[in-house]
Amino acid sequence: MKRDFLTLLDFSAEETEALLNRSAELKSGKDSSACPLIGKSIGLLFDKASTRTRISFQAGIYQLGAQAIYINANEIQLGRGETIEDTAKVLSRYLHAIVIRTFAHDIIERFAKNSAMSVINGLTDLHHPCQTLADLMTIKEKKGRLKGVRLAYIGDGNNVANSLIEASLMTGISLALACPEGYEPDRKIYEKARSGEADVKLMTSPEDAVKGADVLYTDVWVSMGQEETSDTKKKLFKDFQINRPLLSLAKPDAIVMHCLPAHRGEEITDDVIDSPQSVVFDQAENRLHTQKALLETLLK
Ligand code: CP
Ligand code: NVA
Repeated sequence: MKRDFLTLLDFSAEETEALLNRSAELKSGKDSSACPLIGKSIGLLFDKASTRTRISFQAGIYQLGAQAIYINANEIQLGRGETIEDTAKVLSRYLHAIVIRTFAHDIIERFAKNSAMSVINGLTDLHHPCQTLADLMTIKEKKGRLKGVRLAYIGDGNNVANSLIEASLMTGISLALACPEGYEPDRKIYEKARSGEADVKLMTSPEDAVKGADVLYTDVWVSMGQEETSDTKKKLFKDFQINRPLLSLAKPDAIVMHCLPAHRGEEITDDVIDSPQSVVFDQAENRLHTQKALLETLLK
């Protein structure tokens, strides 16, 4: 039976823990079991720009012995009106799995429903679960644990924030989100986490959120596909910035995370993202290791 990874909660807590352990093993370079996915073809169907997701999947797939086929959504018949359902059925006849980056989350759900191969969410407007796997690996590496770690997310209640909420529900991370009014995370995802007794709080004060935090996390104010909101958001979000004064309210050994790409001078200042407390490039590297473990798990 094929399995999909559309949101973090498609895996159980135990499966995620095993995946993170395997990611660490792959990163250590100690495992020399070569090419477990030899002979397989994996599609990368992208409707939005990408540096990390695209290249880390492409390199990781090669390292696992498989072939990656990059597909620009506008260059296949999908871009000329072929349906998502027909595209999913046809590509399932050629590929063993597909990573999709697109807009509305229901596009990937429809694709997965009509697909005989595993579908992996490489970002939708609602979720970014592959990013969260790398985030969890990074927090574990730097803090030695997940449960009880205090994470403050500052900024837009977007796909990255939604997936972090699911991570809190799954792992026991204590999450405080500071978002401007009207830019909160998805209500259903938030309510589900709260009713599952996740330690998740929503507030409007970045200062309150970061007080005593172990991890500070932010993302761009304007996500892909929302460019027309840019002027309004830049005014509204100006106090939702990780800068030196804000960082000084967190624990002295707090780390700073960002999924990247960063808009330096907007959601984060240069002196913070380039400081020794910043782990953003380790976080980016961990995309590679966690996604290799994900592919092994889904395709074994
Ligand atoms: N963090 C992340 O997903 O980066 P890309 O948009 O470059 O893939
Ligand atoms: N929230 C951002 C994440 C980019 C990796 C976006 O959707 O554009």
